[in-house]
Amino acid sequence: PPATPNVMIIFGAGGDLTRRKLVPALYHLCAAGLLPESFAMLGLDRLELDDDSFRERIAEKMAESVGDGFSLDVWERLRGRLHYMRIDMLDGQDYEQLCERLTHIDALKQHDEHSTEGNYLFYLAVPPSLFGPITDRLGEVGLLHESDGDWRRVIIEKPFGRDLESAVALNDALHRNMNEEQIYRIDHYLGKETVQNIMVFRFANGFIEPLWNRHHIDHVQITVAESVGVEHRGAYYEEAGALRDMIPNHLLVLLGFLAMDPPNSFEAEAVREEINKVLDAITPLTPEQVLTHAVRGQYGAGTMANGEQVGAYRDSPDVDSESRTETFAALKLQMDNWRWAGVPFYLRTGKRLATQYTEVAIQFKRAPTMMFQDTDTEQLEPDMLVLRIQPNEGIQMSFGAKIPGPKMQVGTVNMDFCYEDYFGNKPATGYETLIYDCMNGDATLFKHADTVEKGWEIVQSVMDVWHALPPRDFPNYQAGTWGPCAAGELLRRDGRRWRRIE
Ligand code: BG6
Repeated sequence: PPATPNVMIIFGAGGDLTRRKLVPALYHLCAAGLLPESFAMLGLDRLELDDDSFRERIAEKMAESVGDGFSLDVWERLRGRLHYMRIDMLDGQDYEQLCERLTHIDALKQHDEHSTEGNYLFYLAVPPSLFGPITDRLGEVGLLHESDGDWRRVIIEKPFGRDLESAVALNDALHRNMNEEQIYRIDHYLGKETVQNIMVFRFANGFIEPLWNRHHIDHVQITVAESVGVEHRGAYYEEAGALRDMIPNHLLVLLGFLAMDPPNSFEAEAVREEINKVLDAITPLTPEQVLTHAVRGQYGAGTMANGEQVGAYRDSPDVDSESRTETFAALKLQMDNWRWAGVPFYLRTGKRLATQYTEVAIQFKRAPTMMFQDTDTEQLEPDMLVLRIQPNEGIQMSFGAKIPGPKMQVGTVNMDFCYEDYFGNKPATGYETLIYDCMNGDATLFKHADTVEKGWEIVQSVMDVWHALPPRDFPNYQAGTWGPCAAGELLRRDGRRWRRIE
């Protein structure tokens, strides 16, 4: 059913996120009949635009962002609901005008016989330094005040701080004007179908759960590899680096879904509680362990798989020519609980790696003995379950099978499920589900203040040691490869290796 009536107010509507992800997500919702009849979007930014020129600006990229199956008809339906207002985000008076504009939009909708009912969804697509100031001003003019029949919610984009201390300060600033229930911290990994499917795969099937523990699983590998560089985000990335940019948020989302106990229901509270238990069970690395269990790298120039020659990170726009920022990070994490004690989770992520690919590989323990002649247990690949998150979304199970012939020989084969074969290729940005859920007040796929703070706690010791001991050997991997040698060493030391990704 369509979401509840509302006005979605986007701060930073002149930016890339709005054009490339948010409006295309609204388009997909509109096409699927999931936007309420009485819906309006109000874009806010510093640019001098009016409704028409704003619509033009968005229209330029729509067909491209939506891709195959773009329908002018759907776009026309959405287009008329887009509005714009110029605002200085730090000027309190502009917020008075915002109130007037919203009342006007509400009235317009009422005229249409559909009311937006005073429900407002504020989307802060702005740098994190503005989260506090904007919500303070919204609070001052009463726009965050929920009265009986209406709701006020705020979606914020990462980064949620840059370490534990700043995350706590940010949460405090948000709580000055809102209850936790009004805050929706978005992590687009939670919007990905294949990420949500980890829960379905584990908890909708009876055969998986009995195997999902330290008795049967040898270790888990989580890879989020990107072949792209830092593009035009050098200034942000210099401050963030691969660890902050990806691990406390996206990779820990994957880890949380993989390692959690079955929640009592799919309600937000129940799911959060189990995820938080996983994060609590992760033993933070001691400073000594950081030296052996954490690896960092930065790319130098190199050749990508398609033959393209690319420059070093240090030569990217807005990047220091002697930058010490890491563009690759790998960690070995362990959990102190009954299910996972002794099972390492290896995480790696980086820019300008050999391919653009995200997967989780779960390696099972080997059969205790190998009874088939001519087959050496060591030679046979261990059984492995691979959850392909993107691209080529699917699930693959590899196991040993008899190689046909008079001799009893065993080789590794793959059983493969591809989403596209079953469900076709449904274009989505990952934001559709999240925006729709927020409009309906379902916070299951959003992050609670606790979860964000726990994520930072896990990586804090790594950040501290890396900050205290600047890297000497950067750049230490070539663009187009799988990162620094030390990443391979991290597993080799434990008698393991990263799964080869073609
Ligand atoms: C963002 C990071 O949150 O996630 C980017 O800031 C990264 O650096 C992106 O490229 C990866 O998202 P996806 O959906 O392409 O895996």
